[in-house]
Parts: sequence; C-alpha cells; structure tokens
Amino acid sequence: MKFVVLTIFPELMQAFWDNGIMRRAVDAGAIAAEAVNIRDFAEGRHKVTDDRPYGGGCGMVMKPEPLAAAVRAARHKAPAAPVVLLTPQGRRFDQEMAQQLAAHPALIVVCGRYEGIDERVGEQFVDIEISIGDFVLTGGEVAAMAVMDAVTRLLPGVLGNEDSAEQDSFCHQRLDHAHYTRPPEFEGRTVPEVLLSGHHDRIIQWRRADALLRTFAKRPDLLRAGTLSAEEMALLRTWHREIERIIRSAPGSGAGSPSGGG
Ligand code: ADE
Repeated sequence: MKFVVLTIFPELMQAFWDNGIMRRAVDAGAIAAEAVNIRDFAEGRHKVTDDRPYGGGCGMVMKPEPLAAAVRAARHKAPAAPVVLLTPQGRRFDQEMAQQLAAHPALIVVCGRYEGIDERVGEQFVDIEISIGDFVLTGGEVAAMAVMDAVTRLLPGVLGNEDSAEQDSFCHQRLDHAHYTRPPEFEGRTVPEVLLSGHHDRIIQWRRADALLRTFAKRPDLLRAGTLSAEEMALLRTWHREIERIIRSAPGSGAGSPSGGG
C-alpha cells in the first residue's frame, strides 16, 4: 500500500510514520508513505494556501489552485489511486471501509484545513469523502492518521500474529472479548480461571461468550443490526431466562404476592 498524503503539516505525518507499527510496516515494505506539502504549490512569497470565503462568514477556505496542483503531483506518484478527502461531511469511517481501502494498492489522502476546501476541487478530484465521526477537528491530519492506521494493520505481514486483525473488535460486528496478562492476581482482581486452564476449546467458548456479553452491554445496536449465530442465540436465551429468574426473585418484584406475578 502506498499512501500519498496532501497536507500543510508534512512533519506531523512523518512523525506518525516514523513510530510504532507504522514504522514497522514501512520497514517491512508493507506500506510506502509520502507527504506532499500543499504549501509547496502555493504562489507568492508567503505561500498562502487559504482565503476568505465568497459570500462572507467566518473562517477561511483552502484555495483551489495549490490543492489542485498538489493532487496532480500526487497522481504522478500514485497514478491509479483514488483520492480520499477527510472531512466531517464524509461517510462515517468504520472497519468495513478500512477493509475496502486496504484492497487498493495506493491512496491519495487529502487533509483539509480551515473551514474546508473549495468545492470545485472536491468536485473535480475527490473520489471518496470520509469522516471519522460527528465532531469537527481543526484539520484532516488526525483523521487521516486514524484511517491509515486502521488500514495498515489489515495489510498482510503488518501485525505479528496473522489472525489478530481477524479477531478484532468490529471484524464480525462484535466487540472484542476481555484480555488479561500476568500477574494472575492484580490488586485483588483475578484472571478468569478458564484462561489459566490451558483448555483451548473452553477458552474459545469463553471468549465468544464474553465478546457477546460485552457487545450486548456496550453496543446492543450491533446485535440488533446483524445476524446471531446459533451459539449466540442459545447464550442470549440462557441469559434471558437467568435475568427473568433474578427479576422474579428480587424483593419487591411482586412475585409470590397475591396481586403480583405476571
Ligand atoms: N476534518 C475535520 N473534522 C473531521 C472529521 N470529523 N473527520 C474527518 N475529517 C475531519
């Protein structure tokens, strides 16, 4: 995967690629990453990349000429790559989109600044608009890093354990199960015994149940939106029966009283 990122903060991008798993991905040849400084394509002594909006109003708009020239330069570096713009107006980024993007050999990533980019550059050059959430950042750089990070870790050979991306949160529309490492007891809290048992099948079963429970507790919308496996259905029915039993036996539930029950 080749990332060509258009930004007015190339040093910010370089720092991101120079550390951690991104750095490892670069060293392993899984990604190549390059920042194009939009300012290099701006005219005049001050290399201005923004201007006041037509029609008035607050904030500044990214000028079309330097951005268009920067996209054209990026296209020389990655000819067939789609142009991705980070903007709060884009489609909400998720794991599925990360997988789709990871299938491309290259991406040109445009980080907008100020109030946004001139609409005409968007119309002419942008293929995909992505938002990382319903909030407004001061620019697309942090959003671009989030997208590149999520995409990079899906590429073959980037994560040590090949199947750890497979078992991620959201990979199958479920949150991840809980994780524990040594020591077996930490400030009075212990690790679930099954994880210390060495019993592989029971561990797998526990993890699937824990993932379902956490998804139910924290993101029930994911369960409502998707399909349930037979195993999940059985677990939910068991929990449902247990919850009913707890409610019925709770003091004040009305169970056992002449008017109660129901
Ligand atoms: N630029 C500013 N806010 C953004 C957001 N939420 N997502 C993507 N790009 C942005």
